Amino acid sequence: TRVCVVYGGRSSEREISISSGKNVIAALEHEGFRVISFDLHNTLLPFVEFLQKEKPDVVFNALHGRYGEDGALQGVLEWMGIAYTHSNILASAMAMDKAVTRQILTATSLPVAKGGLYTPEELLKQVPLSFPFVMKPINEGSSIGVSIIHSPEELKAAISQWHYGPKILIEDFIPGRELTVGVLQDRALTVTDITPASSQGHEFYDYGSKYKQGGSSHLLPARIPPLIFNQAMDYALKAHKALGCSGGSRTDFRYNDTLGEENLVILEVNTQPGMTRTSLLPEQAAYCGIPYSALCRWMVENALC
Ligand code: DAL
Ligand code: MG
Repeated sequence: TRVCVVYGGRSSEREISISSGKNVIAALEHEGFRVISFDLHNTLLPFVEFLQKEKPDVVFNALHGRYGEDGALQGVLEWMGIAYTHSNILASAMAMDKAVTRQILTATSLPVAKGGLYTPEELLKQVPLSFPFVMKPINEGSSIGVSIIHSPEELKAAISQWHYGPKILIEDFIPGRELTVGVLQDRALTVTDITPASSQGHEFYDYGSKYKQGGSSHLLPARIPPLIFNQAMDYALKAHKALGCSGGSRTDFRYNDTLGEENLVILEVNTQPGMTRTSLLPEQAAYCGIPYSALCRWMVENALC
């Protein structure tokens, strides 16, 4: 099988994708695949020509963020009739948009935090949630553009620097823990409890704590009440299905451990979860007995079946 790993891309998560891509290439070579790769930059045409010339059996999509995770690249590959890993156009597009994801999850009776979409003007006129709340772009990843707003002054300052489009998603800040569950098609892997290194000044699992060595600690399986553990596993699988995801995905949660069972909410579903050395899905797969290279193999084989 000839696999083309595409990585890089033009989103703000480009650096993460380069890291994911490099690891995936090494793993697939280790698994004995014939691997070619492409660092996709700002123009698409060279990639299309490369695919036409090389005719891979499957594209391993190692891109994150816009143009790679949102259905755009998936559309190109559909046009060309080339199989690809992870989710299809529709699932990718829906999951990339956190506001649409909220609607799908709500329609599926899955829990999300109280919140909604607002323009900066609306937020400055009237604050619809009590402080602290979370402000985030609808279509970024790796917590880019996410901030916790504690006061009207912070809100004003955050809005004055906002450059992520006309609408702002705000959600109740859920104190407590950040949990995540990886899904491989029909199987939820386990629950990881993520603690950002607050000694390094991270109030939540932000960009720095995600990718710095020691920026966060991952406890898996999470030591949380069995009921919450099972709920998180169940919700992740249901969210994956509700959005129509394929292959691997990862659903992120907040769990308010001071209030009990009613307080697990889904933050988002990642259709192109990170595949770097500090990434969560590979860590969960390894815990379940699927080493990194076997995980990459599974993704390729899943895309071909
Ligand atoms: N958006 C990053 C890559 C993740 O979800 O792992
Ligand atoms: Mg994400």
